[in-house]
Order: sequence, then structure tokens, then C-alpha cells
Amino acid sequence: MQSISRDAHQSGLRVGFVPTMGFLHEGHLSLIHLAREQADVVVVSIFVNPIQFGPNEDLDRYPRDFDRDENLCESCGVDYLFFPSVDEVYAKDSTVFVDESQVSAGLCGVGRPGHFKGVLTVVAKLFNMVLPDIAVFGQKDAQQAAVIKRMVRDLNFPVEIVLGSIVREPDGLAMSSRNTFLSADDRSQAVWLNKALQLAEGMVKDGRIESLALESAMLNLLDKKAPDIKSEYIAIVDATSMKPVNLVCNGTLIALAAYIGKTRLIDNRIIEV
Ligand code: PAJ
Repeated sequence: MQSISRDAHQSGLRVGFVPTMGFLHEGHLSLIHLAREQADVVVVSIFVNPIQFGPNEDLDRYPRDFDRDENLCESCGVDYLFFPSVDEVYAKDSTVFVDESQVSAGLCGVGRPGHFKGVLTVVAKLFNMVLPDIAVFGQKDAQQAAVIKRMVRDLNFPVEIVLGSIVREPDGLAMSSRNTFLSADDRSQAVWLNKALQLAEGMVKDGRIESLALESAMLNLLDKKAPDIKSEYIAIVDATSMKPVNLVCNGTLIALAAYIGKTRLIDNRIIEV
């Protein structure tokens, strides 16, 4: 993989990289299109990274369909599909990991200890394997994007991070590989996650910018309309630092995580005022 990228660089070509865990959907494909627009050679990786899953998480049942992913990549004009095995990526006795102590501490960091350490370690390793000029991530995982930007800044990775906006189902549910786990009833309740974000957005437009009021309105709506949704957090934070804000302003992130049955979903909005 490195020699392919070095050859591309020697020919003056820009390498664009989209890291994924596979089971691709329109959200992933939109990132591939962004990479296609901004780079000459597009590399997509598929690697279900074991070290970013906690002991009670869904690593074993994470959905996989390599043939379908391969066809989708081909039809989107991906130049290289990079799919290393776990043994190729991790030495059995690895002792060096990348961690971040502030941007990753709140939100998903609370319920998923070690998750962002796993993400940063694999993203750093993939950057060193793929040697991209730009790498494209989704705003869907807003905290992941912020943590990766912090790593790139603090460790001087020579990679430009580009973010793609959230791609949604027609009814507004954010696309996710994990949506496949939802039963029909779960699926109809899941749509209320986006509606709760919409409610908050509408309140801000009406001048209700106190975070506490927004949070309780969102929780009320979810309680009433989607009783089987168990909210893990609703966070109203600065989109770069992930620090809580009391009053929403332009660029504030409203993010949530919730369980529907065993399935954990996340969604968010950047507020524009
Ligand atoms: P994965 O969940 O497969 O997501 C790969 C990329 O797709 C991430 O940047 C994610 O934010 C983006 N994405 C997911 N759903 C999206 C949607 N509905 N709209 C737009 N973009 C979306 O995130 C990971 O994998 C892993 O943590 C990874 C970065 C690959 C490290 O293992």
C-alpha cells in the first residue's frame, strides 16, 4: 500500500483516503465521492478494528458483506480497496497506542471507555500505511472527527482532514451500518432521534438557546414518542473542543447517543444561527 502511494506522489498525484469498517451505505459513498472530487487516487479501507470495541460491544456481530462492498467501491470509481487482516494490522505484542485526553473524554467517551484510543491508534496506523494527502470522515461521528483532527494537529500528521455531511434515510434517520439490527418497531422509533434534534434546532431559531431547556425538551419528546429508546446522553458542546456550553451559538454541536434494544445509535446537528 505504501509503495502504491509513494508512486502516486512521485507522479504528482494526490491520494485521498476514506477509512471504513465496511457494510457500506450511501453515507460512506458520499465520502468516497468527496475524496474523488479532491484527490487523484482514491483509497478506501475496510477494517473492522477490534481494539475500538469494548468487551460487551458488537464486534462479533458487526455486519459484514465484502463482495457487496467491493462492487459498490468499484461502481464509485475507487482505485484501491485496502482490507488488511487483524494480524497484518496488529503485532500480537503491540505496546504503543495513540490516546487523547480531553476531546475524547465526554459524550461517547463516557459510555465507551477505550473506544477513541482504539480509533486513534488504527487511524494513525492506517495513515502510515496509506500515506494519504487527504482523508475524508463523516460528520455523523462528530466526536470522532474532532478527536482525529486533534490528533492530526498535535502529532503533525501531514494529512488534510475533510468532513462530509450526514447522509440520512428519506424519513431522516441517519444512515448507519448498525441500522440493519433494528426491528420494524425499533426502526419506526429510531426516527425520533432526528426529530428530537430538529426540535432543538427549531427552538434555537425561536430564540430558546439555553442548553438545559433544549435538553429537557428533547428528552420529553423521546419519552413521549419513542418509549423504547434509552437515551445515553444528549450533549450541547463546542464542536471543536467537545466542552459543554450553557447557551447555544453559531457552530454549537448538539449530539446524542441512544440505545434501541441492543443497538446503539448516534446522531447530531451543528446549529447555525
Ligand atoms: P464506519 O462506522 O464504517 O464509518 C466510516 C466513515 O463513514 C466515518 O467517517 C463515518 O463518520 C462515516 N459515516 C457513517 N455514517 C455516515 C452517514 N450517515 N453520513 C455520512 N458519513 C457517515 O467510523 C468508523 O467506521 C471507524 O471508527 C473508523 C474511522 C474507520 C476507524 O476504525
